[in-house]
Amino acid sequence: MKKLLILIPVLFVIACRQKAPVETKNVIRGSKDAHSFARPSEAIVKHLDLDIKVDFENKLISGKASWLIDNLSKGNQIVFDTRNLEIRRVTLGDDETETTYSLGNDNKFMGRSLNIKIAAGTSKVNIYYTNSADAAAVQWLNPQQTAGKKYPFMFTQSQAILARTWIPCQDSPGIRFTYNATVAVPQELLAVMSANNPQAKNSKGVYTFSQKQAIPSYLMALAVGDIAFKAVDHRTGVYAEPVTLQKAAYELADMGKMTNAAEKIYGPYKWGRYDVLILPPSFPFGGMENPMLTFATPTIIAGDRSLVSLIAHELAHSWSGNLVTNATWNDFWLNEGFTTYFERRIVEDVYGKDEARMQELLGYQGLQELVKEMGAKNEDTKLKANFDGRDPDEGVSDIAYEKGYSFLRTIEEAVGRKKFDSFLRSYFDSHAFNSVTTEEFLAYLDSNLIRGDKEILSKINIDAWVYQPGLPANSPAVGSEKFRALDTQIAQWQSSGDISVLSKRLSTNESLYLISHLPENITLKQMAGLDTVFNFTQSGNSEIQAAWYTLAVRKNYKPATQNIEKFLTQVGRRKFLMPLYKEMVKTPEGKEWAKKIYAKARPNYHSVAYNSIDEVLK
Ligand code: BES
Ligand code: ZN
Repeated sequence: MKKLLILIPVLFVIACRQKAPVETKNVIRGSKDAHSFARPSEAIVKHLDLDIKVDFENKLISGKASWLIDNLSKGNQIVFDTRNLEIRRVTLGDDETETTYSLGNDNKFMGRSLNIKIAAGTSKVNIYYTNSADAAAVQWLNPQQTAGKKYPFMFTQSQAILARTWIPCQDSPGIRFTYNATVAVPQELLAVMSANNPQAKNSKGVYTFSQKQAIPSYLMALAVGDIAFKAVDHRTGVYAEPVTLQKAAYELADMGKMTNAAEKIYGPYKWGRYDVLILPPSFPFGGMENPMLTFATPTIIAGDRSLVSLIAHELAHSWSGNLVTNATWNDFWLNEGFTTYFERRIVEDVYGKDEARMQELLGYQGLQELVKEMGAKNEDTKLKANFDGRDPDEGVSDIAYEKGYSFLRTIEEAVGRKKFDSFLRSYFDSHAFNSVTTEEFLAYLDSNLIRGDKEILSKINIDAWVYQPGLPANSPAVGSEKFRALDTQIAQWQSSGDISVLSKRLSTNESLYLISHLPENITLKQMAGLDTVFNFTQSGNSEIQAAWYTLAVRKNYKPATQNIEKFLTQVGRRKFLMPLYKEMVKTPEGKEWAKKIYAKARPNYHSVAYNSIDEVLK
């Protein structure tokens, strides 16, 4: 009994701890984020109350952003980021006292600073604003561009520095805040955000949200459309247009298992629900890790669940990225390298070692090709990047993902998985809801795992991985038995000319491996032969389509022409579009063809996709 009495208060304290709202721990940094005008060491935001209306007719978002702030320096100004926002009025406090403000010079990708006059004791700033119809974060789709074809749709994509095109904010990954939002939309549509979400429409068309964990601005997200919900398990589910919902729920049936696997490896999921929203095909990324609600491309719906590692990736960001965040975009590899590592650990747990090994190998080969293409001396092949003065969106390449992954695998090999796991778990715990620079991570790595051990240090070679360009020689050896068997078959086929030596049924990974390991001088006849056996041209698997069509363009393989055109006009995922357009512009005829398709397709793409493709076609 005595023991029990002691235990009760202990349990009570534990329970309270778990429930208590997490405090916003903004790390005030000496080094400023080059991609934000904000001056967080002077005055910093802590909480947002957003009250907006989504106007489909004029393609505008307008309303009021009320920020609770901490005027740390007790000075007379707070600085926000904006880009193409019309600021109508700014007031202070609950009594809304008018104040003055000024906008800085316009920078192409950074936009303009919004400098608001405050008093030493100001704790609330209310900004009345309207964004612009061509806000870079937002894509407005007409009914024809949706799966259901009946209702319009809109969604935002804030990473890396596009949140400022739809909300005035301190747009830096090192600054965190909680938020509440009220969003008014056309009555027949549902609104969802990176927060707790409604599961059905209401008759008013007004939805309220709250995000109780402190997040950086790049995780602000909103989508509005004819959206329905289907549960997967008690805490996971799928949102999609009604015509896509059943297929999507089938494809993502393992979400619950993935979340359990992730928790087993790196500790409790801290965000409440984990849902996925399947967007129309123009979504420019594979996935975006918006907290509580990953946004995902419909191109992962292959019908056989073979592309769902992308969900493992976005889920993994709930730890690496959303919980422990890169402090600046130059530390982007901390988000994506860790997430790629964690993604493959989840895949290994849910789908087995073979699957994880194959994905690792495909990833590493992609990395080798990329480094070859960029040049092993290229500064942008360094893990610690320098995108100052450039749009950080340019920095999105496989370097952060796959070189980051290989670096972490190298550490894992050097110290053993068990030690590495407990290190990572304590890293996530001790830095939860904070941002981290590359240097802070390396310091933590040294004091908590390597502890100056010379032998381990020389095995890893941190400097080569993090601060030097190219690929270090000690990249962990990767191999897959399934792929080795395929190598043998390809060699037999080449020497005998008999295509029937290839296995008739290939998994998605094997198909991708085959397509990327065909002989350089493959003939059109051989390609047609492959099509007869594997039907690549007609594939319903977007990864296979993208790989095969890129080869088809290079080889001028005509039977794929129509499907390529269809793919380019229907799919807006930048990762698929870029290699195709890049391949097309290599010949004069190809460039003409690309321009013809692009004229038709561009209106279907999101700004992050067309801005990149404009560069390729110019
Ligand atoms: N956070 C990224 C997407 C992103 C990166 C958007 C940088 C804007 C700037 C997301 O988690 C991601 O990495 N998506 C990948 C999928 C993944 C499986 C490699 C994608 O979209 O292809
Ligand atoms: Zn990612």
